[in-house]
Amino acid sequence: MRIAMIGTGYVGLVSGVCFSDFGHDVICVDKDPAKIDLLEQGQLPIYEPGLENLMAKNIAAERLAFTGDLAAAVAGADAVFIAVGTPARRGDGHADLSYVLAAAEEIAAALTGYAVVVTKSTVPVGTNRQIKQVIRKANPQADFDVASNPEFLREGAAIDDFMRPDRVVVGVQNDRAAEVMANVYRPLFLRDFPIITTDLESAEMIKYAANAFLATKITFINEIAALCEKVGADVKQVSKGMGLDGRIGNKFLHAGPGYGGSCFPKDTNALARIGQDHSMPMQITETVIQVNEEIKRRMVDKVVDLCGGSVNGLTIAVLGVTFKPNTDDMREALALTIVPALVGGGARVRVVDPQGKREGEDLLPGVHWIEDAYKAARNADALVLLTEWNEFRALDLKRLVRKMAHPRMADLRNIYSPKEAKRAGFEGYTSIGR
Ligand SMILES: NC(=O)c1ccc[n+]([C@@H]2O[C@H](COP(=O)([O-])OP(=O)(O)OC[C@H]3O[C@@H](n4cnc5c(N)ncnc54)[C@H](O)[C@@H]3O)[C@@H](O)[C@H]2O)c1
Repeated sequence: MRIAMIGTGYVGLVSGVCFSDFGHDVICVDKDPAKIDLLEQGQLPIYEPGLENLMAKNIAAERLAFTGDLAAAVAGADAVFIAVGTPARRGDGHADLSYVLAAAEEIAAALTGYAVVVTKSTVPVGTNRQIKQVIRKANPQADFDVASNPEFLREGAAIDDFMRPDRVVVGVQNDRAAEVMANVYRPLFLRDFPIITTDLESAEMIKYAANAFLATKITFINEIAALCEKVGADVKQVSKGMGLDGRIGNKFLHAGPGYGGSCFPKDTNALARIGQDHSMPMQITETVIQVNEEIKRRMVDKVVDLCGGSVNGLTIAVLGVTFKPNTDDMREALALTIVPALVGGGARVRVVDPQGKREGEDLLPGVHWIEDAYKAARNADALVLLTEWNEFRALDLKRLVRKMAHPRMADLRNIYSPKEAKRAGFEGYTSIGR
């Protein structure tokens, strides 16, 4: 198969590299020339474990190339994937489809023979039909079908998720498009990974429903955690006791400081807007969005309370600022709420993150970037564990205590226990739901 991947961000790049590893000929396109320059030199514009090696292997095998020339990539492709961003539209929370529709127009002009135009971006129900109209209008002669193929990979584990998916969802309108999609995913099909073929609308809806459900599960346990704090229960024990019930499951049941990231916030908002547009309010999702905002605000209070009611003039070390470990992605990261609140409250904030600096430097003005947790702890008045990178999972607590002016820790990922913290000599320790 010849595949053109339009948009070479977290999803487009991982998908393009993995498709080339399946044996397809893949050309990845991006309109950002700096990104293409880097990729052509074999360098990654993002951090994703394992991606660099897999990319190098497939470039060497001449199955993978990068270009800024969309028309050249699309000409002769069997499948053209749209993997551009669909951020929340300013003001109303709708998914901003301007990049997707602009890409569709460009693709229309470049189509040569029969091709399936596949949307991998997360798009509201009805968008694939809209894409079809856009292409038809721009190029009435074009021989094409559209397909919806939402992506479920998680940043930080993206390659494994792509190569060993729980399922692949493909929405199509006819057998011809279904056959092309079956060929694209044949290596997974042969290894018995479930491939679900649906209509366009159901495929589009599966993605939003799945993300809203996961956001709900996280928010549910976060709210239970807040109640645990009031009644003297331990949310870690509660989630273990709940998660062993097969109907509930233990994944996404770890209490934390609220969800963030490149998908859940914008996708829950977009689903809420889709519901409103169809006079079918998504009440659960709307509540989840609101509760998550409250949880994030409560995290700031937690740190301030730990510091005795004010952070003014204090030195605070924040460990981890990316929205989760193993990515450099800062989109909607909790740090973007907590760190400015601390800086605004008069604290001197030090930040440690293995990959966050490149993006985080502009987003978190007024902080000092430090290379490791022990250096950041020197003479600090409090430590906030915000993103659970592996290197923060086994810290020498006694060593931290020795370095700090006031050994206090807000462990917002429940990595340590109140007992351990006390034993190490922390004079203050707060975590989530216990
Ligand atoms: N990031 C994730 O973990 C994830 C997971 C599943 C689904 N998704 C969805 O996938 C889509 C892409 O997300 P992302 O995180 O990869 O976005 P991203 O912002 O990292 O990448 C998008 C890329 O598209 C490029 N682009 C935009 N318009 C273009 C055009 N006309 N031609 C060529 N390139 C163009 C941009 O320059 C950018 O490099 C979104 O809809 C998102 O919701 C993301």
